[in-house]
Amino acid sequence: MSSGGRSHTAPPSADRQPVTLPRLAEMKAAGEPIVMVTAYDYPSATVVEEAGADIVLVGDSAAMVVLGYPGTEPVSMEEMIVLGKAVRRGLKTPLMVGDMPMGSYEASNELAVQNAQRLVKETGCQTVKLEAGGISVERARAIVNSGIPVMGHVGLTPQTATALGGYKAQGKTAQGAIKLLEEALALQSVGCFAIVFEAVPAAITEAIVEKLEVPTIGIGAGPATAGQVLVFHDLLGITTGRMAKFVKRYADVNAEMVGGVGRYADEVRSRHFPEPDHVYGVEPAELAEFRRYLEQESLASAKSWDWEPLP
Ligand code: KIV
Repeated sequence: MSSGGRSHTAPPSADRQPVTLPRLAEMKAAGEPIVMVTAYDYPSATVVEEAGADIVLVGDSAAMVVLGYPGTEPVSMEEMIVLGKAVRRGLKTPLMVGDMPMGSYEASNELAVQNAQRLVKETGCQTVKLEAGGISVERARAIVNSGIPVMGHVGLTPQTATALGGYKAQGKTAQGAIKLLEEALALQSVGCFAIVFEAVPAAITEAIVEKLEVPTIGIGAGPATAGQVLVFHDLLGITTGRMAKFVKRYADVNAEMVGGVGRYADEVRSRHFPEPDHVYGVEPAELAEFRRYLEQESLASAKSWDWEPLP
């Protein structure tokens, strides 16, 4: 685990070009790995910008890692919009993807297009992501036809995890793998510009991505995908507790944060904070004049001010 400053190789943000859909296709064709990561607010967006991510997803995983819900199901469009707007303010070069929360697209093509347009217009994301195959394929087609690029998502799709038997790997049987292949091909055929594969055995992913033309982005799907995605809070160790098998931790930010706030609390209690460096000074003459004012007879004996109420 290493941490700190510019210990990575990405060129500074000012030297990078904005990432476009043709650029992603080019990267896939050239075998250049695509780096995708989530962000949910202004500070996380500035971090992933500085670190050189190619794609930034304002994921509905925010429900769990930011808003503290037990799953992704409860997060609303309004909540995703607040988070997305904050992310937009911190991003310059990565392609921004807005995740469509559960309930924002399944019921009809009209609803799906309306909410995809809301995400684009109100947050400034350039593309949207929705989960699963089945009816989502029709919704993806409608959104693509309305002019908004769509990223698909197959395998473990957290919005429908209950129906999938829980948070567990998908495509582990031949039948399951065929279903995954069919969903991915269907999403590609309706114009999805990329597809996320979540929690799929590496060998199954490898066999499926060979059949696809669009870039694939893996999370717990092995090394064969064109890119990888991880959740910001997981990879940095901000989330605590049991992690999915596919999470690799690159930092232990939670321990740093608890340590920092704990040291602050200790110093407040022991009166070691604030120190002279943290306080504002005042001209001695101004202070003396103010003290003389306070010492006037009438003020020295006053216990409270007689405020004149406003008319
Ligand atoms: O919401 C999310 O963070 C995601 C990624 C895990 C792909 O969908």
